[in-house]
Order: sequence, then structure tokens, then C-alpha cells
Amino acid sequence: MQIGAEPGVKRQERVPDPCIVVIFGASGDLTKRKLLPALYHLEQEGLLPEQFAVVGVARRDISARFGADMKDGILKGGGVEADDPVLKKFMDRVKYFTTNFDDDAGYEKLKGFLAGIDDKLGTKGNRLFYLAVAPEYFADITDRLGKHEMTTSKAPGQWMHVIIEKPFGTDLRSARELNDAINRVLHEDQIFRIDHYLGKETVQNILVFRFGNGIFEPIWNRNFIDHVEITAIESIGIEGRGPFYEKAGALRDVVQNHVMEVLSFVAMEPPDSFDASSVRAEKLKVWKAIDPIEVEDTVRGQYGPGRVNGEKVIGYREEDRVDPESNTETFVAMKLQIENWRWAGVPIYVRAGKRLAKRVTEVTVVFKQPPLHMFKSSDARTQVQPNVLKIRIQPDEGISLMFGAKVPGPTTNVMPVEMHFSYAESFGMSNANGYERLLLDAMLGDGTLFAHRSGVEATWALMTPILEEWAKRPPHDFPNYEAGSWGPAASDALLLKDRRKWFKL
Ligand code: BG6
Repeated sequence: MQIGAEPGVKRQERVPDPCIVVIFGASGDLTKRKLLPALYHLEQEGLLPEQFAVVGVARRDISARFGADMKDGILKGGGVEADDPVLKKFMDRVKYFTTNFDDDAGYEKLKGFLAGIDDKLGTKGNRLFYLAVAPEYFADITDRLGKHEMTTSKAPGQWMHVIIEKPFGTDLRSARELNDAINRVLHEDQIFRIDHYLGKETVQNILVFRFGNGIFEPIWNRNFIDHVEITAIESIGIEGRGPFYEKAGALRDVVQNHVMEVLSFVAMEPPDSFDASSVRAEKLKVWKAIDPIEVEDTVRGQYGPGRVNGEKVIGYREEDRVDPESNTETFVAMKLQIENWRWAGVPIYVRAGKRLAKRVTEVTVVFKQPPLHMFKSSDARTQVQPNVLKIRIQPDEGISLMFGAKVPGPTTNVMPVEMHFSYAESFGMSNANGYERLLLDAMLGDGTLFAHRSGVEATWALMTPILEEWAKRPPHDFPNYEAGSWGPAASDALLLKDRRKWFKL
């Protein structure tokens, strides 16, 4: 694994202060599958302080098996053997604490428990709280942490940071209320609203690609770009998360957050520097410049039964704990317009959803075509295609550029060919899961890759009117796409209206 450094070069200046990472909701899947493996990867890279501990907090008393469960998660995360001495050292510092989240006495005991670790391990009172709990607990846990004086420093330089998982609100009003509740206890610079897409190397690389190279930025605008497509589709279904997904739907689950974050990186102006306030300010300008989205420019879909990777799968309405007449969308497509100097007139098409033909997240930038007059007399004209830049976020992470080349031979035939950069080929395979960088940054107090209050509210301001319009017009054609397909016909029609087609992925 590699975190912003050359292979083998450890950037020791990135090691945080001694601290305890306290994970609320530690009995959930996220802790085992992502958080502990990511913390362990940091340890492997020498990026954790010597004085360090992880405390899992949850309601169920699973203290007897917590360590073994976490170790199992780390081993499944890859790149480590069970008898690795670094793993042994790391596991010695993983602890568990049982309490109800609304039990004030429990917070007092937890406070004492953490103070005991400070005394024993020298963690100096610094805390990174991670709220990996259901969203209805975000405000209450924060409030109680404040009430029990667990979020205020007692000594100069001491810090208390809080990571809050998604979903952050369900619409503009609830996001504002949540922000108000949390801001009553915490300063904005103590809050780290996490979006795991910002932890992905390929997403971070969009900024490096655009601003760290001289040749792309001059053509990154309406003069050269015809349109942009952002696709974030999955072949998996809702994976047993019926009750959550019924209330969420694809727009709330991935578009308001992950897709909007990716869009902001693709479209933002160069920030003055790569720090939290400059980057967040530029992202905010993008979201604020997006025209209100007309409901006619949106498409929603829901999957019916079908086949995914050759296997028969059930439809959404047949999934466990899903209403058999559910109108929840499992697919969204929409057209956006960013009305600023750089992007006016360049449509941005986005689509996201579940149970589609494959898992792929990609930004596809389609450039304008040059005049093709000179090829008119040859039969090559119809084959000349626009230049297309494909930023593949996952899987097969990489970037490729398509351009036309003359097919060798006595006639002038043009064929699209591809120049390709692959992460795996250039940098080797990585075991990192994206949470490494975000956890490290939160310990260091660097909010660049986290959502700010104003950003969360700006994206909800864009999405909420769509949700309201949809609620007024229940869909009559659900389910309207087969599992394993590319989504509803209306998604293709959205682009056809503009005489375009989704780029083949
Ligand atoms: C989560 C959503 O935020 O992102 C899931 O709740 C979705 O429904 C997941 O599957 C996608 O993340 P990734 O990293 O697999 O693209």
C-alpha cells in the first residue's frame, strides 16, 4: 500500500499525535471490513503513532470475540500473515467497550476507560471519534459526548475530532438540522463528514491529472469538451439492506454524495493551494453554479428480476424487507448544466444504480470533433470518432485516451485506438481500501478530503427539489429495467434527446 509517497518512502511528517480512535457502532460490518484493516495498513506503513489505541464501542457485549473478529477482518483485507509481529503489536492495542448510546452513565464510564488508556499507553487525551452508527444517532451521540466533556480539550494542543458517516441527512432540511445539532457541540474544524469516494486514489488523482499536468487544463472547458458522462453503476443488489434502501433510494444513497463529489473534482477551478479551505471553496462554487435540475432531465428506475453474471436474481420488490409495491428508485440518470465560464453549454450526464450489467465507476470526457471535411472523399469519414478521455475510478483503475489512427494500408481508413495508463501496471496492486488516507487525515486534522457543512447543504439543495417532484409523481412503470441490463430505456432516451448515446463501458 502506498499513501501519497513514493514506494518505500515513508513520509514521517504525516504521523499523527498519540491518540485513541474510538469507533461507535464497532459491532457493524464497516469496522471489521474497512476501518480496522485500514488502521492496520497505516501501522504497516509506520504511519501510526507509537502511543495509540483503538476502542470499539457498541451496545452488544461482544468483548470476548471482538479481537478475533477484527483480526479476521484484517486478514481478509489482505497483505498480511496471521503470525505477523506487526499485527500482534497492533491487536494488543485494540479494545472493546459495551454501552448503550443513550446511557449517560455509560459515557462517564467510557471517559474513565479512555483516561485509563491515556495513563497506560501515553495517548495524551487526543481522540478521534468515529460515528459508524445509524444516522438517527449522529446528533444524540455528539450531544452526549459534549455533555460529558469528551469533545473539549483539557490541555494546550490536545484535540478531539469526530468522523461522521453518511448518509448526512435525507434532504436539505434534515441536513441543516443535523449540521445545527452537531455545530452546537463541535467547531466545524473538529467535524469530518466522510465520503469514502474521496479516499479513492483514482478520485484524488483527478485533481493531480488536471492540475499537475500542463497539457489537459487548456482544453478542459466548453471550447473543447462536448459533454461529460459520470457513471457509477453496480451489479450487486441491495445486499440485505432493505429497510435502509427503502428509505434511501439511489439518489440519496450515492448521487447526492459520491457522484457529486466526483463531479466537483472534474469541474472545479484550480484551488489556490491543496488545503481544506481552498479545495472546499472551489467545490462549493461548482455545486452552486449548477442550474436547478428539471425533473424532465431526470430518469428513475427500479430493477425487476433478471440475470447478473449468468445467475438468476430476484427483482427489487421481491427483496427481503422491501415493500412488494415499493416505488423506491434503484437507478437514477440525470442531465446537469454548470452555468459558469468554463462549462456553460456542456451537458454533464450522470447515472448510478444497482443490479446493472457490471460494476463500473467512470468519468468519460467526450471532446468536440474537428472538421472532418478532408476525409469526405474517403470511406473513412464515418469511422472518425471524437477523442474520449476515460478516467476509470474502479475496477481496472486507470486512464485512457482514445484517438483516431490511420489503419495501415493504401486507403485512408481511420480507426479509434487507445492510449492507456493502468494503476496496477505502473504502481502494482494495492491492498488499501481508501479509508487509510481519510483516517490519517482526520487524525491530523486535515479536512481537505471531507465534506464541509456548506457543501453538504449545497448538494442537498440540488437534489431535494427532484425528490419532492418525484414524490408528487409516483412512477407507473416500476420495475422498468431488468436486473443485469444497462438500466431503463428512458436513460438512453435522455441522451438521445440531445442526439447522444452513453459511451460504451
Ligand atoms: C455506499 C452505498 O455509500 O457506497 C452503497 O451505501 C454502495 O449502496 C457503495 O454499494 C459503493 O461503494 P464502492 O466503493 O463499492 O463503489
